[in-house]
Amino acid sequence: MTLTSPGVGVPPLREARPRTYAMTPPVHFTVSYAINPWMDTSVPVDTERALTQWHTLRAAYESLGHTVHLVDPAPGLPDMVYAANGGLSVGDTVVAARFAFPERAAEGDLYAEWFARNGFGSVHRTAAVQEGEGDFLVVGDRILAGTGFRTQRAAHDEVAALTGRAVVTLELVDPRFYHLDTALGVLDDRTVAYYPAAFSERSRRQLDEMFPDAIIATAADAAVLGLNLVSDGRNVVMTDRAPHLEASLRDAGFRPVTVDLSELLKGGGGVKCCTLELRRHDTMSDTLIP
Ligand code: ARG
Repeated sequence: MTLTSPGVGVPPLREARPRTYAMTPPVHFTVSYAINPWMDTSVPVDTERALTQWHTLRAAYESLGHTVHLVDPAPGLPDMVYAANGGLSVGDTVVAARFAFPERAAEGDLYAEWFARNGFGSVHRTAAVQEGEGDFLVVGDRILAGTGFRTQRAAHDEVAALTGRAVVTLELVDPRFYHLDTALGVLDDRTVAYYPAAFSERSRRQLDEMFPDAIIATAADAAVLGLNLVSDGRNVVMTDRAPHLEASLRDAGFRPVTVDLSELLKGGGGVKCCTLELRRHDTMSDTLIP
């Protein structure tokens, strides 16, 4: 028993911290190319429906007391709705993405310009490919970094140097879970949930050592991108299709808030993919919120 568990079967008290997010509405969302196994260009996409679902997600954050800043969507960039990939914001530093596929390359510049224009810190670019919070997840003082499909390992060192944080490399091995945020969700400064089979043997061992109290997701949880979640430390915004994970989170003292993002799942993304956390709290400009 640890100090945080007051008694057998009594989950620790979970505390929410107000957050600031950037989101891009799926005005131009469609599946016109396939760069991950979830994308099938022969399956029709209902852009209106995607927008409605996205608005529900935005409303969920706002009703929890969080701030949402909007990034303008651009025509011809259907994946721009997955704002998590736009960069990584840690304290005064923002690292804007360098995308792996040419289809998304232009998003890197648009997010970089947006960060610079809106004062979210000094904006840096990496030489190596990295897809922002898709593959870099902040857990307390540490940054967990995925590699294997998109983000290059060399970018992990660049991000460590730029942010001054310890970066832990994790190897992804299942193409369905091509970004770290599809296989691991951050719940608070020391708690994560993950799907072990998405990681190499070595990374699995490392995760087990770092997070002995982690919540372990099932194959079914992972297969609906249940781990692609956003937590404020207590409220966990997640898909409504992962009842097992939802129950595990509840048992651990978290409060799941479920949303239907089924249309956006057709692009291979969920709740977290649509959400970029901004961690510079001193320069918020409220003119950005329409
Ligand atoms: N279609 C997008 C891609 O393959 C989905 C990105 C999902 N984003 C994420 N953070 N996992 O690049």
